[in-house]
Amino acid sequence: IMNPKHIIIDTDPGIDDSLALLLAAASPEIVLDGVIAVHGNVSTEQTTKNALSVLELAGLSQVPVFKGCDLPLVKESLLSPETHGGNGLGYAQLQESATQPKAQHGSDFLIEQIMSYPGEITLVAIGPLTNVALAIRKEPRIVQNVKEVFIMGGAIQHPGNTTALAEYNTYVDPHAAHIVFHSGMPMILTPLDVTYQCIFTKDDLNRLLKIDSPVTKFIADSTRFYMEFHDEYQSIDGCVINDPMTLALTFMPEICDYQDLVVDVDISTGVGLGNTFGDFYNYEKKPKNMKVAMGVRPRMFMELFLERMEKLALKIS
Ligand code: RIB
Ligand code: CA
Repeated sequence: IMNPKHIIIDTDPGIDDSLALLLAAASPEIVLDGVIAVHGNVSTEQTTKNALSVLELAGLSQVPVFKGCDLPLVKESLLSPETHGGNGLGYAQLQESATQPKAQHGSDFLIEQIMSYPGEITLVAIGPLTNVALAIRKEPRIVQNVKEVFIMGGAIQHPGNTTALAEYNTYVDPHAAHIVFHSGMPMILTPLDVTYQCIFTKDDLNRLLKIDSPVTKFIADSTRFYMEFHDEYQSIDGCVINDPMTLALTFMPEICDYQDLVVDVDISTGVGLGNTFGDFYNYEKKPKNMKVAMGVRPRMFMELFLERMEKLALKIS
C-alpha cells in the first residue's frame, strides 16, 4: 500500500472504541502513531488502562498511549456504565497491560505531532472532544496543520442516544465540541444518522466465533453487554458500532455519502444542550464547516469489519 495514513486516535474505551482499536490493528492502510485517552464512557484512568490492554491484545503494544483530560471543560463528568459496563469493556476482563502510559499529556502529544508533521496527521476523535478543544486553545496553529479530523459524534436528523436531542460524545462535552466545530479544521463527522444503520448482530458474532482466539473472545464478552444495553434501552437486536465505522472512513470513504454542511452544537442550558444541527438550507449564509456522513452502505462496512476481525483473530490465537 502506497503512503499509509498516519493516524492518532483520541478515545474513551469503551466497547465500540475498543473495536475501533482492533480495526486499526487489522488495517494496513493506516499507521497508528499514538492513542490519547479521554474521559467519557469511563474515567480517564480506566480508558487509559483499557486502551493499553486492548492494544496489547491486538499486538500493538508498541503504540504509545497518552492520558488526556478527566473532566469536561465546563459541565460535570458523565460516565456511561449502563452502556459499557463498570470497567468500560462490558463483560470482558482483559489483563492489565505491562506497558505504561507516556508521561506527556495527550493534548500536548497531539500538538507536538501535528506541528512536527504538518499536513500529515489524521486525527480520529471517537470520544468527547475535550482533549482536542484544549489542544486548539493551547496551539491554534494545529488547525491549519492537521491533515483532517474524523469525528464520531452528533445526531443531525436522528434522535439522540443520551437525551432526546443529543448524542453522547457531544452531550458529555458540548463546549469542547463547540470549540472544535468552530475551529476551521477540515472535519468529517460520523453522526448517529449513519452509525445507527450499521448493526453488529448475534449472527455476525457467531461468524467471528468460528475462529478461536482471544480477539473473538474479547469481542464476544464485550459486545454481549453492549447488546443487552441496546435491547433494553432501544429495542435494537444487536449493537451499534459507531467508533470503528468512523475509523473505517479514513481509508474506505466510499462506505458513506457526504454533505457539506454548516453544523453547530447547542451550548445553551435548555433541553437542547449538546444537540447538533445542520443548516441544510444555509439560512445563515455561513461557510460550510464540515463534511457530514449522511448516507451509508451498511453491508460494505460490516463486511469490511468482519473480514478484518477474522484476519486479526487468525493472527492472534
Ligand atoms: O454516541 C456514540 C458514542 O458514545 C461512541 O463513541 C460510543 O463509544 C459512545 O459511548
Ligand atoms: Ca467512544
